[in-house]
Amino acid sequence: MAADVIAIDGPAASGKSTIAARIAGILGIPYINTGNMYRAVTFYALTRGVKPCRDRQTETVALLDRLILEYRRTDNGTYELFLNGEAAGAAIRTPEVTACVSQAAAMPEVRTWLLRQQRDYANLGRIVMEGRDIGTVVFPDAAYKFFLTASPEARARRRLGQAGETPADATIRSVAAEIAARDRLDSSRAAAPLRQAPDAVLIDSTELTIDQVVDIIIARVRHADH
Ligand code: CDP
Repeated sequence: MAADVIAIDGPAASGKSTIAARIAGILGIPYINTGNMYRAVTFYALTRGVKPCRDRQTETVALLDRLILEYRRTDNGTYELFLNGEAAGAAIRTPEVTACVSQAAAMPEVRTWLLRQQRDYANLGRIVMEGRDIGTVVFPDAAYKFFLTASPEARARRRLGQAGETPADATIRSVAAEIAARDRLDSSRAAAPLRQAPDAVLIDSTELTIDQVVDIIIARVRHADH
């Protein structure tokens, strides 16, 4: 039987998080953001004085033994990421974390460590899971797969509008460059690269509103359910 997962993949700042959260709210199901899990590993390494780049791979991987990551259900019914018992919050979405996260995410041991946890969330019943490799590697048998894209300019513009996620002096150009560099790293790595699953529905949201994208996904899920 297919995993009861709505998989949403796509490149950086393609609107996945906003869309995934809305879908989960409408359907009343958990939303798991796997990018935040890679960010939490990166954040933790940085707080331990380890910049998780290629030549610090051994030290980064060793830190995993001291890290407990879990999505917990909060009072309002949404799922929030906890890092060693504390809510991860906005600290994992700062430009400092963003600058190194793709390098941590390219480490095979980091991916294997997170993969086991990500697969366990299927025990929650139907879920929305968002990331880069959900439809290809985490749940290749997901019941629903979507791949979200938008033009580089639209993505840079959206990211610039997200408070605290870009440096104070950021411009459309600098944000577009950061996004392009991360996409390049994410697409070219050997372990679970960013790529559209052959059976995923491609949605280019450059000219679409959030509501329109949400409507497309909800309509497909409801149609398939009946
Ligand atoms: O929100 P944004 O588009 O900036 O990225 P994110 O979803 O928070 O993911 C941050 C980084 O984590 C990505 O650039 C990837 O390097 C990595 N990631 C991954 O490798 N696999 C996933 N399933 C999710 C994220």
